[in-house]
Amino acid sequence: MNIAIFASGSGSNFEAMKRAADKGLLSGKISLLICDKPGALVESRAEGHGVPVVSLSPKTFSSKADYEAELLRELKKYDISFLVLAGYMRLVGPTLLDAFEGRIVNIHPSLLPSFKGLDAIGQALDFGVKVTGVTVHVVDAGMDTGPILAQESVTIEPGDTRDDVEKKIREVEHRLYPKTVEQMLQHLQGV
Ligand code: GRF
Repeated sequence: MNIAIFASGSGSNFEAMKRAADKGLLSGKISLLICDKPGALVESRAEGHGVPVVSLSPKTFSSKADYEAELLRELKKYDISFLVLAGYMRLVGPTLLDAFEGRIVNIHPSLLPSFKGLDAIGQALDFGVKVTGVTVHVVDAGMDTGPILAQESVTIEPGDTRDDVEKKIREVEHRLYPKTVEQMLQHLQGV
């Protein structure tokens, strides 16, 4: 099964997913990176691994529907049947949701439904929670609202800096996301 990763940022989760695939831990191939922020670090990571990159800024399209129609053309070109959002900082619209129903997953750095949206780690620190975590979920039309597939908690210790919490969250993400994607792929492939 060909998988596309959608990312906008540094791409550490892209890297973790690719590493899992290279180790034979994924029953799918990372065949494409879609990036909506041309120049983002994730693009050079993908190029370093020989993964094709489609880099398109939505700002250059007249509507979200037009932007996603172009993405859909690219996804078809690469015969993609599963989408992994890894730091893709925008809502998925009806064009992609209809084409990939139940086949789009996302990772979010909080225990949903707490701290949806931007800067979930900052929100958790501001609120002063002692436990936060990571959620992997199926993507629907809402923001961080789809059915939850997996969660793991992370403890915030007294004196933890933002960097400390980010590091703990990333460690969990890099382990939990490939494992959960593989479970989903096996489920879809009827294994
Ligand atoms: C991750 O924390 C992910 O949970 C969130 O965006 C971040 C992406 O990080 N959706 P990276 O680009 O994979 O390093």
